[in-house]
Amino acid sequence: MSAIIVVGAQWGDEGKGKVTDLIGQDVDYVVKFNGGNNAGHTVVVDGKKYALHLLPAGIINPKATPVIGNGVVIDLDVLFQEIDQMEAEGIDTSRLRISSNAHIIPSYNKIMDKLSERSLGDRLIGTTGRGIGPTYADKMNRIGIRIQDLFDESILRQKVKSALEQKNFTMEKEFGLDPVDVDQVADSLLQYADRVKPMVFDCSLEVNKALDAGKNVLFEAGQATMLDIDHGTYPFVTSSSPTAGGACTGSGVGPTRIDRVVGIAKAYVTRVGEGPFPTELLDQTGEDLRQAGGEFGVTTGRPRRCGWYDAVVARYAARVNGLTDIVLTKLDVLTGYKQIPVCVAYDVDGKRVDEMPADQTSFHHAKPIYEELPGWEEDITGCRRFEELPVNAQAYVRRLEELSGCRISVVGVGAGREASIERTALL
Ligand code: GDP
Ligand code: IMO
Ligand code: MG
Repeated sequence: MSAIIVVGAQWGDEGKGKVTDLIGQDVDYVVKFNGGNNAGHTVVVDGKKYALHLLPAGIINPKATPVIGNGVVIDLDVLFQEIDQMEAEGIDTSRLRISSNAHIIPSYNKIMDKLSERSLGDRLIGTTGRGIGPTYADKMNRIGIRIQDLFDESILRQKVKSALEQKNFTMEKEFGLDPVDVDQVADSLLQYADRVKPMVFDCSLEVNKALDAGKNVLFEAGQATMLDIDHGTYPFVTSSSPTAGGACTGSGVGPTRIDRVVGIAKAYVTRVGEGPFPTELLDQTGEDLRQAGGEFGVTTGRPRRCGWYDAVVARYAARVNGLTDIVLTKLDVLTGYKQIPVCVAYDVDGKRVDEMPADQTSFHHAKPIYEELPGWEEDITGCRRFEELPVNAQAYVRRLEELSGCRISVVGVGAGREASIERTALL
């Protein structure tokens, strides 16, 4: 039996989808525990590319049961579009299970997401516009709509009505928009009730039973540590808990059952949306990294902001997640640089700071202190053993390992499932 959590160690898009798929070959359950279709995971198998948003990346593995846990927020239109698309691509989605406690993203929350961004003006977050923030806010505010509400029509209509009393007030009075009709929203949700019903289950009960029976369970995060509502660069974060603790609350599995926590980190860093990013490269080098790494969002198509590896962020991710392993992805993208700077600490208003500043103002002021590591010229995409990497690439990985305070167990050298170098087995 093994329970393993996979989290993003930076600002997202580290390659969680690839790693979930890689480890997922040997697991029985893949449980997505946070976020929704703000995520975008690319998985490449035998040269074929799959883009996943709401469905767990583990759906591509024909052996595992993919699970959408209670911590996820679900846009039902997107759920069925994605299921239909996967089926059209030959992926069997019939094993998909959805927690009855997961919240639904009603259409009005996509409007609220955009209105909230509009009212923030130049302080906007740069959200994906998928209604994520307002839906988690409704959950906390106890006016959310859950999957189980689809099976009790009168409750559903009541809940939509209560939520819309607040939303319509904002839409009409603040933004001069037409009010949203209660029945129209309720009907559009109810149309999915029969189709979704056979998938709905008690996530906590079944996943715990699976662990009791000695099965392997992988908990798959969307987003990442630095986008965590508590531990990220608030307010420039998402509205869920993508860190390891979120895997427990987002699935109903206790922390004592977890064996490994694997953080995924790119060999450099990217970020989408607004917010501080100390190692960001605003010059041609950043543009070169973006092109070499294909750094354009899977969800919104936005160019990703690019910068050098930040070991302060990595140490922080190791700490708040209790990482047992790091998977370092995209090492191949760094081929061809003479020197590769790595951020080892920050200069905050003239003072050296080795750990993540506890206040946002200091983080906004943080300037990277770099150590220069020698680069390599050789193509490494065909390497499958650590010793096959050029010595400077090996030294780069070892130095990152020292600086990040966690062993680097796997190194990615290409997008395909096979393009991975295993140093320590993850399962
Ligand atoms: P996720 O959101 O964390 O699942 O990551 P994304 O899928 O949004 O972005 C990661 C991108 O990097 C995808 O296009 C992957 O196919 C690709 N990728 C993952 N690992 C590697 C790697 O080791 N090398 C290269 N070149 N690409 C990788
Ligand atoms: P994956 O799972 C990168 C960012 C958005 C925005 C902020 C809040 O592919 O790593 P939201 O719509 O969640 O309210 O937006 O979070 N963001 C991501 N950035 N990868 C993601 O997911 C992201 N999901 C949200 O760009 O800055
Ligand atoms: Mg992504």
